[in-house]
Amino acid sequence: MTTLPRKESDSQKPLRLGLAGLGTVGVGVMRVLQTNAAMVTHRAGRPIEVVAVSARDRTKERGVNLSNVQWCDDPLDLVLNPDVDVIVELIGGAEGIAHKLVYAALEAEKGVVTANKALIALYGNDLAKLAKQKNIPLLFEAAVAGGIPVIKLIREALVADRLKKVGGILNGTCNYILTNMAKTGRPFQEILSETQKLGYAEADPSTDIDGFDAAHKLAILASLSFGHSVDFSGVFVEGIRDINPIDLKFAQELGYTIKLIGIAQQHEDERIELRVHPALLPSQSNLARVNGVTNAVITDGEFSGRLMLEGAGAGEGPTATAVTADIIDLARGNTVPMWGTDFTKLRPAVTIQREEFVRAYYLRLMVQDKAGVVADITAILRDNQVSLLSLLQRGEKSIENPDFPVPIILVTHKTQESSLLKALEQIRNLDAVLEEPVIIRIDNA
Ligand SMILES: NC(=O)c1ccc[n+]([C@@H]2O[C@H](COP(=O)([O-])OP(=O)(O)OC[C@H]3O[C@@H](n4cnc5c(N)ncnc54)[C@H](OP(=O)(O)O)[C@@H]3O)[C@@H](O)[C@H]2O)c1
Repeated sequence: MTTLPRKESDSQKPLRLGLAGLGTVGVGVMRVLQTNAAMVTHRAGRPIEVVAVSARDRTKERGVNLSNVQWCDDPLDLVLNPDVDVIVELIGGAEGIAHKLVYAALEAEKGVVTANKALIALYGNDLAKLAKQKNIPLLFEAAVAGGIPVIKLIREALVADRLKKVGGILNGTCNYILTNMAKTGRPFQEILSETQKLGYAEADPSTDIDGFDAAHKLAILASLSFGHSVDFSGVFVEGIRDINPIDLKFAQELGYTIKLIGIAQQHEDERIELRVHPALLPSQSNLARVNGVTNAVITDGEFSGRLMLEGAGAGEGPTATAVTADIIDLARGNTVPMWGTDFTKLRPAVTIQREEFVRAYYLRLMVQDKAGVVADITAILRDNQVSLLSLLQRGEKSIENPDFPVPIILVTHKTQESSLLKALEQIRNLDAVLEEPVIIRIDNA
């Protein structure tokens, strides 16, 4: 892998950046570089200068000094600009202009720094191939968990260890929504609208709340961790739209907290389990206590044991700090292969399908309160080899409306998900089961 600078004589020259995107993160990077200019120069061993920028609206007031930089309406002009050594891509999106820009930069043999998790999750393997072929660095620390230096942790600090598991709470928007639903008992839609007003959720929140943002990050972590190239399509993804306040309440009663988690785990046969879903975590566990927009990443290694880093997974300052650290690495000439090892030596990961997951499960069934219902349900579970740890029945039969549904909460022992799914097919067909069953996995993360 080529390191920048390439020649001894370059080592004192400024590293010249073309910065594409002047939104939250782009402006943050300008601010960090301007505020900490002397310190950054000192630590990088040479000045770092933004020589050209690109965004959509030239007239927008950005709150940072752009008087000495060239403006490009088209981000691709940054690549053609002979004054630019490195492209910093902070536009976002797996497709479109960000995609074109990163490929064009590598083709033109310019180093790239990006925070674009969607691009790296979906095209990381192809980009690693191109970066290796061109011998050009591509760094992406801010793409996972914003200000938490998890990529450096896995790719550098833990390089000598074999990781068995990696993941955690990877989406601040979901964590904020679930924390507030648990605190207030209010429904998902209401808390989501409030979260949007506070700016913690996008106008179109689906990438976050349907789990895809966390899945992008998990695919990147897995690619770095297990010595296999991971395909994003192998990630099982379930979001938080269907989480109901009553499940948060019952979970609490049972000693659990519900969080959206992303977990990647390598099995002994080397196959990899990749899953993003809401989970009941023991309330006393470290992950369960991570609240609000905070993210937390855990690693579990053969020699290093368990580590957990917690902090801001997004936001201007934390994310810009991570991007700038990558830029300083390039200025120093410190780079490592994109996935931490020679990409051409990575074998494609074999991923485990949902049916093969083995977990304990929380089930909520809304049933007619009549004799024999519990017996019918437990018999179906038994016949499908699903054994029960506990059962709670709540609510009283209404004299006026005997068909009014009452909840039954079941907690299973560890079981294969395929057995549970088969049992549920039969359970949902019982006349006394009045609503779609709710299943939430239990995890000790
Ligand atoms: N925000 C975070 O906390 C965070 C955390 C981790 C990673 N990231 C990643 O960082 C990247 C940037 O996120 P952000 O939050 O800073 O996004 P943002 O605030 O929406 O900013 C996007 C920037 O891209 C510019 N842009 C969009 N289309 C363009 C085009 N066709 N040509 C030129 N410029 C264009 C926009 O220009 P205008 O300003 O003129 O509209 C804007 O300046 C994304 O990949 C995101 O996933 C963000």
